[in-house]
Amino acid sequence: MKKYFDLKFSEFTTNKNFNFSRKKILNVLPEKYLLDAHKVISKWKGYKKTPLTNLKKLSKKLGTNNIFYKDESKRFNLKSFKALGGAYAVEKIAKNKKKMTVSTATAGNHGKSVSWGAKKVGANCKIFISENVSTTRAFEMKNLGAEVIRVKGNYEKSLKVCKDISKRKGWKIVQDVAWKNYEYVPKLTMAGYSVMIKEISNQTKHYITHVFLQAGVGGMAAGVISGIAKYFKKIPKIIVIEPEHANCVMQSIRYGSLKKVNIKKQSIMGGMSCAEVSLVPWRILKNAVNNCVSVSDKYVPQTLTMLAKKKFSDKSIIAGECSTPGVISIISCCSDPLVKKKLEINEKSNILIIGCEGDTDKNLYNKLYKIGNQKLKKND
Ligand SMILES: Cc1ncc(COP(=O)(O)O)c(C=O)c1O
Repeated sequence: MKKYFDLKFSEFTTNKNFNFSRKKILNVLPEKYLLDAHKVISKWKGYKKTPLTNLKKLSKKLGTNNIFYKDESKRFNLKSFKALGGAYAVEKIAKNKKKMTVSTATAGNHGKSVSWGAKKVGANCKIFISENVSTTRAFEMKNLGAEVIRVKGNYEKSLKVCKDISKRKGWKIVQDVAWKNYEYVPKLTMAGYSVMIKEISNQTKHYITHVFLQAGVGGMAAGVISGIAKYFKKIPKIIVIEPEHANCVMQSIRYGSLKKVNIKKQSIMGGMSCAEVSLVPWRILKNAVNNCVSVSDKYVPQTLTMLAKKKFSDKSIIAGECSTPGVISIISCCSDPLVKKKLEINEKSNILIIGCEGDTDKNLYNKLYKIGNQKLKKND
């Protein structure tokens, strides 16, 4: 077992341009967006705060005060934080406009949110997916009433085709990524994600000292940071986590401006396997992030299995692949004495991680669980 508490990160970076400013952040994503997102979403049928689970066993092992895990596997029936973003944006866009068609390109969870949102407001929905999106994910979006269009090539290609066809047909794109002159919808999705922080601010009396945030294009991380700027009294250290071959936030932070990475190997953490930081999130991340850490896929199965088998907490947690890097990076940062010291992680620390998805792709989850279980058996 000891082996599992001795993980190594791939790379670690400190942001030399760190300068957290609530004002600047809330200029990028104004408070009225955040307040409206919470007002609207908390009225949705079936709305409940997702659990803030204490990973007591992990916290004890690492010598911290608390490690809180925001369990988004319980977010409506969609099992991911993305339910807060795309569906909310659809609702805002479709307001008073019946019979409209919305479209998006997706790695899975965002498309599911848009499909669900379109179904709720009675809009038509067209979803573009790349070759890398599983049939399980495609099927779930079809089940929510969307037409799913598979595009040859990667995510970028699916987005290009989505843009081209939507322009020709007059469909409204509801994308979670920003580009030149396309910022309003991505801002809405980010505002939706900030609801997680609004909830957390009422779920614990402890001041959070550290937040580990996964990033793909950076929307979730920047949405959460906006929530922190608005709702938290004290600002925690903010650490962004990425897959080692898709570390576009880390590269951009190092470089001091947006930098695209050439993904040599797609990560198993599909939602985070992104080559470029989105424009609006970057304006927030560039100064608000203290550190970046990148992690390898090789720790994903065992971490997923350990979360399910109550190795970190008293309760079993169903954590999809993108939910594992929070645990992986905390363990690996604590395994490196210099980094642990630099991050000031100690017995007073109250660390927050986001369990951003559950078993959103059941086939993949079962496969990873099996691999993780075999590894655990071999090493126990
Ligand atoms: C399922 C899933 N998709 C996507 C992302 C990335 O979000 P974003 O692209 O907004 O950074 C995450 C977490 O970071 C995730 O868990």
